[in-house]
Amino acid sequence: MIISIVNHKEGTATTTSAINISIGLARQYRKVLLLEMDLQGDISSALNITNQQKSINEVLMGEALFQDVILQREGIDVVPANISLVDVELSMWELENNFYLLKKHLSVLSKNYDYIIIDCPPSLSLLTLNALCASDQIIIPFKLTVLGVNSLELMLSTVEKVQKKLNPSLKIMGVLPVIVNKRKNISKEIMDYLTKMINIRIFKNYIRANVKASEAALFGMSILEYAPNSSSAIDYKNLVKEIINS
Ligand SMILES: Nc1ncnc2c1ncn2[C@@H]1O[C@H](COP(=O)(O)OP(=O)(O)OP(=O)(O)O)[C@@H](O)[C@H]1O
Ligand SMILES: [Mg+2]
Repeated sequence: MIISIVNHKEGTATTTSAINISIGLARQYRKVLLLEMDLQGDISSALNITNQQKSINEVLMGEALFQDVILQREGIDVVPANISLVDVELSMWELENNFYLLKKHLSVLSKNYDYIIIDCPPSLSLLTLNALCASDQIIIPFKLTVLGVNSLELMLSTVEKVQKKLNPSLKIMGVLPVIVNKRKNISKEIMDYLTKMINIRIFKNYIRANVKASEAALFGMSILEYAPNSSSAIDYKNLVKEIINS
């Protein structure tokens, strides 16, 4: 199963969720590939990947095979990206069937994995559209703020367009509340609003705010590895069980 973690709004724990869901799935004995589609290279820095020779950039351009660029971290396979993905994206606009390039390259690989998790950039770019066209499901991490609700509505309408025009089999696995501060009333009100207004699953195991989440990336580790007893690690472990059972 190919799952994109996607929200075009910045700073919604997309990368943190992609990493910890992937490693959580591997700890449940699933074979996982984590694919970075973001030129910011945040997966690479958060998992301490330095000096990589080749990345998703070369694969998309047909200059390397996935086998040449896969590395191992904490029990998962990882395909990193880097800043020159911006040039790749520009070149992709000139290619035929450019929405389906990633899908084409992944097709030879998907049988090797139980899950392929794609970390999307915070934009509705050609890279994001490639991820959505290659995916079976998406998870939308979501911060419980008023601006978050607006951007979630835009995200959902974009997904609807992709389902109509590009990938009819794409499904929304669920919306994942992240960086949740339960003490703030606004969160509860927004959660109630969402439950009433949006006919989409909201994961029961939302991710609580915890400073260990930011620290883990600084030390080049997942939260599951860096702070296994922290609330965020516990939340991601429970979320992974919810994903497996869905
Ligand atoms: N559960 C959490 N509690 C507290 N802080 C968190 C939590 N999860 C993530 N963060 C912090 O929030 C910030 C954004 O996280 P992250 O980079 O995963 O988001 P993103 O949506 O991928 O961002 P970008 O838009 O830059 O791609 C980071 O500083 C991260 O450490
Ligand atoms: Mg990110």
